[in-house]
Parts: sequence; C-alpha cells; structure tokens
Amino acid sequence: MPSILSSTNVVDPNGHDSNLRGGHAKARTRCLKPLVNSGSLDKFAHRDLTPVIGREFDDGLQVRDLIKADAQLINDLAVTISERGVVFLRNQDVNPQEMKTFCERITEAGGLVLTSHQPESSGLHVHPLTESGSELGDQISVISSEKQKKGGGLTHQLSDVSRFASAGWHADITFEPVPSDYAMLKIHTLPATGGDTLWASGYEIYDRLSPAMQSFLEGLTAIHDAKFFHDEAARLGNPIRDGIRGSPLNCGGALEAIHPVIRTNPVTGWKSVFVNKGFTRRINGVTKDESDLLLGYLFNLVAQNHDAQVRFNWRKNDLAIWDNRSNWHCATYDYAEQRAGDRVCSLGEAPFLDLMSKSRREALGL
Ligand code: SIN
Repeated sequence: MPSILSSTNVVDPNGHDSNLRGGHAKARTRCLKPLVNSGSLDKFAHRDLTPVIGREFDDGLQVRDLIKADAQLINDLAVTISERGVVFLRNQDVNPQEMKTFCERITEAGGLVLTSHQPESSGLHVHPLTESGSELGDQISVISSEKQKKGGGLTHQLSDVSRFASAGWHADITFEPVPSDYAMLKIHTLPATGGDTLWASGYEIYDRLSPAMQSFLEGLTAIHDAKFFHDEAARLGNPIRDGIRGSPLNCGGALEAIHPVIRTNPVTGWKSVFVNKGFTRRINGVTKDESDLLLGYLFNLVAQNHDAQVRFNWRKNDLAIWDNRSNWHCATYDYAEQRAGDRVCSLGEAPFLDLMSKSRREALGL
C-alpha cells in the first residue's frame, strides 16, 4: 500500500493515479508527503484552546521576528496551523505589507506553490471585491464594519436573509478553482465587547461521519459559487476584479468552481469535509433534494457541534492564522461600534482527495 501523498501519487504528469480525485494538473501540491514538526516552536509559551482546534501563543512570538526566522521555524509554524486549524498570535506589531511577506513564507513552507516546471504560480489572492488602487495594495482585504453595513457580504443574521448567527460559516474563497491554503487576519479596531470569531474543524466533522457516509461522500464533488458578490460589488460601487486573482486559474466573473466534497490536506495528510454554507450550492451526481439534504446535514454538523469549534475573543492587534482547506470560520456581528482589520489570503493547491490518506483521529491513534 503506498503511503499517502507518496511521490507516485502526486508527480504523475497525467494525473492518472487511481488514488487521487480532483486536483487540476496546473495547480498540484508540491508537498509530496505530510510535513513533520521538529518542535522548534515549543519554547514559546502557548496553550491549546480545545482538544481538537486552536492554539494560542503569548506575545513572545512576534510576526516581525518570524518573517526573518529560519526555514525550520516557518515549517513548524505551517504544520502547527494545519494540525491545530487556527493559531492565535497576541498583540502583533506588524503592518499589512509585513503580513503579506509572512503569509508568503507560510504558504511556501507548506510546499504549496507550483512545481518549477509549471510557469504559473499560486500567489497571494486578490479578492474579487477588493477596490482597485486601494492604498494597502490588491492583496489586502480590509475587513470593516462600515464596509459590511454597505455591502452585506456573509452578514446575514441581522438581515431578512437569515436570523441565525451561524449563517456565516464559511471557508475563504472556495468559489475559486485554486482556493486558499492559509489566511491571516489582524484586528486593530475593536468594539468594547463582542465581535468574536469562531472556527470549526473540518477534520473533526469528517471523523464524526459513519464509515459508510465517509466513503459515499468521497465519491462526490460540489459546486461552490459566489455570484452574490456581483450584487455586493454594485452596492459598494466597485467593479468585480475579473483579472487574474493570484493564480491563472482564478479569473473572470463566473466566481464558480467544482471541488471534491472530501479533500486531503497535503501538510497533515488528513481528510476533511470541504463544503461550506457560504459558498457551496450543490452536490453533483445526486438529485437537488438529495443535495439539499446532504448539505443541510453537513452544515448542521459544523454549526451545532460546539465541541468541534473554538471561539476567539480578540484583543487589539491580535492576529489569527488559519488553514482554509480543513476549517471554517464565522464572524459574530453583535456590536454597533467600529471593528476593522486587515486580511491576507494565500492560494494553495487545487483541492484533491487522496483515497489513501487518513482521518485525523486515525492518524493520531485517537
Ligand atoms: C472573515 O470572514 O474572514 C472575517 C472574520 C471576522 O471578521 O471575524
């Protein structure tokens, strides 16, 4: 039995490995086997926030230093983010340009830029709603309560669309053929109370499915789409960015992609559920009724299992970094004051499932 992501699985130029599902040939992972954590970050004070998801470091670990750190430390941070789902770094003195440099270092340590025989590369994402000519640059998304009031976004719960705070669970930009591996958000302007963000583990949700449901879903793909961004762009008064958005495969105004319902995270080698309430519209190969039922069940598993979630109470200048391949997140709009921050998103590989990969619990012997 070949080990997961062995070179025979990934480097097959024609993509004919029978264990692989999905994964566009022009955006394959360069990560040929799961990465190993050497433990170089252990000396920094930290704590796990729940058994399955979230690790918080004290402000002794600074992004400004990590940008210059050796490759081993960056490798270990990438593995920690991918294993724990989300990592919180307190009180970061870092500007948006430094965040971009840091994000590039993390995604490269994950080995996820394209192989050198491919001229194109996965870079930092340009969000379709980012205003052209923004002073922070194309690759910074400004998260702001003022903008949300104008645009709407996934802010459904105070609108006529939904009164559920859980309506906003999503993984970033899954409507792109090459979606995000890592994303980071620094919040610099905060309400006195409220505005927490929640993350949930896609590895854990996969582990909660019965073996029969796991293998059924492993044969399926789903359509992800963000056509509602066209309305939002009109409300904001900016045209949609339809040029190249960080990968030559991400362009145009369709804002639609097809991805496997279960995907393998190449950094950990673990399987995760990969559909989300924000962007996944339809499971292919089943009837619309069946798709609605399956998606509803999977979305409920995310929203209703609070033991697969972590809730983060921001302090000024905290920074969160998460792995979008295997986690979802949801903002909380329970405040009236200003809340703002900067977000950077890197692009990883085109999602794939390696049938030989394991679940998190299986890999950890839990
Ligand atoms: C996001 O969805 O990326 C933003 C989360 C937040 O504002 O808390």
